[in-house]
Amino acid sequence: MSSDERYQALKGMQDILPPDIYIWQKIEAAAREIFPLFGFKEIRPPIVELTSVFTRSIGENTDIVEKEMYTFNDKAGRSISLRPEGTASVVRAYVENHLHNLPSPQKFFYSGPMFRYERPQSGRFRQFYQTGVELFGSSSPKTDAEVILMLGRFLEKIGLEGLSFQINSIGCEKCRPGYKESVTGFFSDRHDNLCPDCRRRLNLNPLRILDCKVGRCVEMRNGAPQIIDYLCEDCKTHFDKLKSMLSAVGVKYTVNPEMVRGLDYYTRTTFEVTSGTLGAQNAVAAGGRYDKLVKAFGGPETPAVGFAVGMERIVELLKRSGQPDLPVPDIFIAFIGDAAETQSMLIAERIRGAGYWAELGDSEASLKSHMRRADRLSAKYVFIIGDEEINSKTIKWKKLSDSEQGETPISGLTDFLLENITRH
Ligand code: HAM
Repeated sequence: MSSDERYQALKGMQDILPPDIYIWQKIEAAAREIFPLFGFKEIRPPIVELTSVFTRSIGENTDIVEKEMYTFNDKAGRSISLRPEGTASVVRAYVENHLHNLPSPQKFFYSGPMFRYERPQSGRFRQFYQTGVELFGSSSPKTDAEVILMLGRFLEKIGLEGLSFQINSIGCEKCRPGYKESVTGFFSDRHDNLCPDCRRRLNLNPLRILDCKVGRCVEMRNGAPQIIDYLCEDCKTHFDKLKSMLSAVGVKYTVNPEMVRGLDYYTRTTFEVTSGTLGAQNAVAAGGRYDKLVKAFGGPETPAVGFAVGMERIVELLKRSGQPDLPVPDIFIAFIGDAAETQSMLIAERIRGAGYWAELGDSEASLKSHMRRADRLSAKYVFIIGDEEINSKTIKWKKLSDSEQGETPISGLTDFLLENITRH
């Protein structure tokens, strides 16, 4: 690369910088606070897996597997992929580590980057972050309700309001085939008017037509059969109980019979949380039940349910309600002379040892430029140390917000900090 060529992050991938990073940290802290209250423990699966982990779970005929995976051969010639989502890896880990031998239910949460080679647009990236949860070993609708309730608590904790919760049931292996057949019949009659993708989907994965964003396919959906009318007794009871429990615990939701989700592993409950202000990429979180996946990975029959939150999208919503306060140094130490420089470093270390943020001026700079820098950093206090202060074992201080000034003995440093500064 020649010296005038510029390095740039790959398309659809972005640096997360201050001040935005403080919003990210706030969200991550909320996840660590709320999810354990419901018994979820953190899990960290690898970012790369054998490609088959994803094809087997997400489905061969889904957009993710057909067109969006970052797949390549490793040096041993194995096909491996960057994870496009978290559920498949967590299920693989659950089975591989025999976590099903532990008392049920087992509950996990995770946070990290996912990769999908999608067309980048506002709210859609090729590397994006999800914070997700997965619960194994309960088929009860109460569990679905609790997981959705927890998602609501989490979003509330980070200060997001006015989001809409949509739920649906997409049935089970007993009732879905009948529904699929009706959908295939319905769209076969309209075959020629479908977009090329949907014509292909008609035979491979007809339910995906219900999710297509192309205008003429959206129109074509008018009057399409709805899964709700095809649910078997067990699925219907499950869905009815979920709805009554959500109402009982005060989660406001709407039933969206067209929500089919873009991943094949779901059974029964699916849900999405959307924002009215994000444009086309409006889903901030999504999830559902996947009762057959653990078995498909060679584990025992284990019902499961989970969701993932799209971090960039909630960061965007939070940014709209104001930038976070940037942290500022508690103490800026301005010093004059060589002896004071060493003394300043020792004092800075004592300040940090007590849990406060200390910044030091530059060696060659004048007192005036030290003060200027302290100002620019919005430090709370400036400590001024020169030969005189070293001799008298005192520190001169100045509070920058109101220019109040004073002196404190070096021996009383910790008391000064405790009395005057709120710790980070
Ligand atoms: P998903 O709907 O594919 O579900 O993704 C979940 C969320 O991740 C979306 O609602 C969205 O907020 C975010 N997201 C997805 N793709 C992108 C992208 N390209 N750029 C930015 N954000 C994106 C899953 O991934 C399932 N694993 C969720 C789940 C967990 N189901 C059960 N357990």
